[in-house]
Amino acid sequence: MHNKPDQSFDSILNKFKKNIYGSSKGMLRHELLLTHLRNHLELDGKPLNILDAGAGTGIMSLEMLQLGHQVTINDISNTAIEEAKSKFEDFEHAKYLVGPLQDIHTEQKYDLIVCHAVLEWLESPQSALRCLPDLLADNGALSLSFFNKHAHRFGNLLYGNFDYVENDMRHKNTVRLNPNNALVPENIIQTLENLDFKVEFSAGIRCIHDYLFDRSKQESDYQKLKEMELTYGVLSPYKWLGKYFQIIARKTD
Ligand SMILES: C[S@@+](CC[C@H](N)C(=O)[O-])C[C@H]1O[C@@H](n2cnc3c(N)ncnc32)[C@H](O)[C@@H]1O
Repeated sequence: MHNKPDQSFDSILNKFKKNIYGSSKGMLRHELLLTHLRNHLELDGKPLNILDAGAGTGIMSLEMLQLGHQVTINDISNTAIEEAKSKFEDFEHAKYLVGPLQDIHTEQKYDLIVCHAVLEWLESPQSALRCLPDLLADNGALSLSFFNKHAHRFGNLLYGNFDYVENDMRHKNTVRLNPNNALVPENIIQTLENLDFKVEFSAGIRCIHDYLFDRSKQESDYQKLKEMELTYGVLSPYKWLGKYFQIIARKTD
């Protein structure tokens, strides 16, 4: 099967903002990713040089800018970068790079690369991943998150979409906000290890939220749900069924 080319969010940015960040889905995803980042990396110390690769409108960049870091905000979508620029006017430490993350070259290496919810939109996630180590300083860290194929399959099994599952979730997909390429966490971990990264942390993101029988609890019991996500999202077997999977890895020499 021929893979779709990298998906720029130019034409679906408004839909993305409304459907994802306008709901408990996006808020919870963001808060869980941020909590894990803050718990596992030194983000309150000296300013770091950070790349947010495929930053979208820069929701995570903003957190990093507010913590005093220098952040390069990259996206293939010019519309997304223009929106980030308009929001971050007050931050001197923000830089912008429009274009594919696979084409980034830099003299000054990054202490941290954040690449969240991007790989699954790429034609070749594995080759994009191979571009990242060169951009990182020695001992630099990478935070990846991506749409989890195990969860994609399990969700479809629960909906009784058996033909779709038998076809490896590959038939024509008209839902534009559904990523093209869900990824298997174990394969990404293996690729990172082959690239001489040491995986320091991993977690499932939204291991419970999307499976709740009573969906009204996604909003009405949000704080308790978030606590449960933080508790069970780091434990097997629950973590492997998170809608997204987060990995924090460090480049070794
Ligand atoms: C689901 S959004 C995630 C945005 C942001 N990281 C977040 O977590 O909110 C995926 C983003 O990847 C961008 N993108 C797709 N292909 C890209 C590429 N090759 N290089 C850089 N950005 C890319 C899209 O334009 C879109 O803004």
